[in-house]
Amino acid sequence: MKIDVGEGPLETIKNDALVVGVYAEEAKLRDVPARLDKALGGQLREVIEAERFTAKPAQVTHLHTGGRIPAGRVVVVGLGKRGELTPETLRRAASAGLRRARDLGAKSVAIDVLGARLPARARAHAVTEGSLLGAYTFDRYKREKSDKRVETLTVVESDGRRRREVSDGARTGEVFADATCFARDLVNSPANDVHPTYLAKVAAEIAKDAKLELKVFDRAECQKMGMGLFLGVAAGSEQPPKFIHLSYTPSGRKRRRVAVIGKGITFDSGGLDLKSAEGMLRMKDDMSGAAAVLAIMRALPRLSPPVEVHGLIAATENMPSGSAVRPGDVLRAMNGTTVEIGNTDAEGRLTLADALCYARDKVGAEEIVDMATLTGACVVALGPLVSGLFANDEGLADRLLEAATNAGERVWQLPLIDEYRENLKSDVADFNNVGPRGGGAITAGLFLKEFAGDRPWAHLDIAGPAFVEKDTPIGPKGATGAPVRTMLCYLMSQG
Ligand code: BES
Ligand code: MN
Ligand code: ZN
Repeated sequence: MKIDVGEGPLETIKNDALVVGVYAEEAKLRDVPARLDKALGGQLREVIEAERFTAKPAQVTHLHTGGRIPAGRVVVVGLGKRGELTPETLRRAASAGLRRARDLGAKSVAIDVLGARLPARARAHAVTEGSLLGAYTFDRYKREKSDKRVETLTVVESDGRRRREVSDGARTGEVFADATCFARDLVNSPANDVHPTYLAKVAAEIAKDAKLELKVFDRAECQKMGMGLFLGVAAGSEQPPKFIHLSYTPSGRKRRRVAVIGKGITFDSGGLDLKSAEGMLRMKDDMSGAAAVLAIMRALPRLSPPVEVHGLIAATENMPSGSAVRPGDVLRAMNGTTVEIGNTDAEGRLTLADALCYARDKVGAEEIVDMATLTGACVVALGPLVSGLFANDEGLADRLLEAATNAGERVWQLPLIDEYRENLKSDVADFNNVGPRGGGAITAGLFLKEFAGDRPWAHLDIAGPAFVEKDTPIGPKGATGAPVRTMLCYLMSQG
């Protein structure tokens, strides 16, 4: 979808559809955008009355203009109560409005920069982002592709003095949404196409287009670096593992160095501790963290945050075979730590542990954030819409929580309970890779914490929100692109 910024007034716009917002208070008083209503001969008021439109958040109705104004249709979206408006209300309203316009067959849509009470830049960002996220579909593998597709979106601000802010906001919103949809595509694509070699290829394309530095290590090179945990997980797969390292360096003086690590299990069968048929169904999504890393790295040059960012992915499948790692095997991490395999299905923490060692020793990261579809236990604790956050540094945790709020993603901090560390004891090695059922998300976090060492580190368990079984207000069921927007907000706010 092509995005541009336009000027009103609304009643002069020629696009196929025009999306306008109405507050609950206005709907009650039938106090609709007056000039537009006048141009429409009172049709807007009529429709609001006839449809009992109360302007609840993201409620939608529409009318055909019958040539009264140049635009073919007007889509009206509810914004809820004026005083309760947030950027998230705007995202959801824009998303609902765009979907309606698309379903009506509009190819060119103009959307008013809704919600006058927020700063223009934030409104333009939210409206653009919500529009693009809401209109997302995944039909790469379908013979029949819908011809209902919005091709151009004009973000309209009638006040010419705000044009600069609006175009900046719209552009940032576009980059955020584009990154999110890039991650969605990768996660929605099946594991027979999205294998470690494919992720490495995508990384190479990104490096080329975005002028990032890239290193990809194969099995032998990972062996040399001592990544025994990562390679243990990879041992059962026919697909060769790849360790991917992308880096972005901002121009100017030396900046803080952050590593973002994404869990990159392109399919998680469980290994010899094989999952049930039902448990395996969704497991192409076990590379959602990796998809987020690729999407973030691809977006960084367009946003130029003042921070050095290293994107790391230990990509492999987790498969059962004669060469697979066995329960009871002992593996050695890059930092020498030994781990007894209590369960081959707790593979994510193994691959992440070696990536954490790499982030410390090879990258010299001053701060590390990992993103992983790590535990079913986290989904039990927080449900499908909330990511779990763990950190060894409260400042970092607070900054990430704030970024999530700004991004409109849900993140909730969970505790790293010291006493539970003993649950990871092994009789034969330094650690076991699993603990008891209770507190499984915490145990996984504690395991990772051992490998983060003295570095400020945070872990986002995205097992729930990465992939949803029902449509959400800003996207269809399937991959969501979490937590791309949180991380972009976070990196943008770093000085
Ligand atoms: N990839 C799964 C976690 C997962 C489960 C993500 C459900 C999304 C939905 C992870 O590798 C895994 O299998 N974890 C096990 C850990 C257990 C063996 C300690 C789990 O959560 O059951
Ligand atoms: Mn697993
Ligand atoms: Zn997994």
